[in-house]
Amino acid sequence: MSSSSIYITRTIPESGVALLTGAGFAVRMNPLARTPRRDELLDEVGDHDAIICQLPDPIDRAVFEAAAPRCKAIATCAVGYDNIDVAAARAHGIVVTNTPDVLTEATADLTWALLLATARRLGEAERFLRAGAWRGWGMLDFQGADVFGKKLGIVGAGRIGTAVARRARGFDMSVCYCARENKKSIEELGATRVALGELLETSDFVSLHVPLTEETHHLLDAKALDRMKRGAILINTARGGVVDQVALIEALREGRLAAVGLDVFDKEPAVPPELLSLSNAVLLPHIGSATVSTRSKMAEIAAANVIAVLRGEPPLNPVQP
Ligand code: NAP
Ligand code: GLV
Repeated sequence: MSSSSIYITRTIPESGVALLTGAGFAVRMNPLARTPRRDELLDEVGDHDAIICQLPDPIDRAVFEAAAPRCKAIATCAVGYDNIDVAAARAHGIVVTNTPDVLTEATADLTWALLLATARRLGEAERFLRAGAWRGWGMLDFQGADVFGKKLGIVGAGRIGTAVARRARGFDMSVCYCARENKKSIEELGATRVALGELLETSDFVSLHVPLTEETHHLLDAKALDRMKRGAILINTARGGVVDQVALIEALREGRLAAVGLDVFDKEPAVPPELLSLSNAVLLPHIGSATVSTRSKMAEIAAANVIAVLRGEPPLNPVQP
């Protein structure tokens, strides 16, 4: 039996913990019902052979300095790893892993939930009913935008972007995408590659699926938002930093965009009060992958990656700088 110890920064589904304990590892789970503060994280990481973290944990160079030399792996329970300094991990000989694929369909479903909710004004209509304001059916009430037969622009045609495009076939939408190179999987679904500018100018719905990197930070800045078709709807289930939030609020206020659906924000969990006050913004607390089975699989994959590294085997899902 191994006596290696794994630190888990915040509660994960039980099936992931069971894999670790079943493989003979000692598990120390952060007992607090919140993300550990920086000092708590730095205090803890040096005493373990591996860490399972989550996307709100800023895993920067100082964390790797504190974690080395004992820690051999950091496994995040997410596909996005913009919170981790992967170059610093490499410099300290620590493997970083993520959880791709298992969350693709759940996140694509949630993207569509936002697309339909924004187009058909579900948030507004539900708040109206719950407030007891409904006095009966009205021909002019809550008229939204059509989805069927409209044009969808996908920014970032990877796993999730392609899964979102696949669902668009059921709505008879024409789909375009922008990417750094042609993407066969999405083209097989009938999507056409265009430049970002053309996508923004012609799409009725724009959905973001790029990772947050130096290149994609504020990819949708004031200028890009201004290029969007008047009355278009923007959906962001990627990362808040991909959109300039201040410019987005301005575009919504001025009525240039009809609505926005956001699962992600620039400085989570902070949500700007201006967004909260806009009735045409549908806002969710970063729940893209939040289904029972998906979250269990994510925990299991994070555990399996850690087990592989500590056994001296290749990790299943290593991420590169
Ligand atoms: P993925 O398969 O790696 O897809 C990302 C795509 O973005 C890749 O095809 C990549 O192109 C492309 N890309 C990167 N930089 C680009 C740029 N500058 N211009 C155009 N395309 C660019 O990742 P995924 O599994 O679909 O996940 C995408 C992102 O969704 C994650 O990174 C994460 O931030 C977010 N996410 C959010 C939730 C949520 O709960 N809301 C859940 C899961 C994921 P290449 O193929 O050329 O590299
Ligand atoms: C969630 O946002 C993820 O990146 O998995």
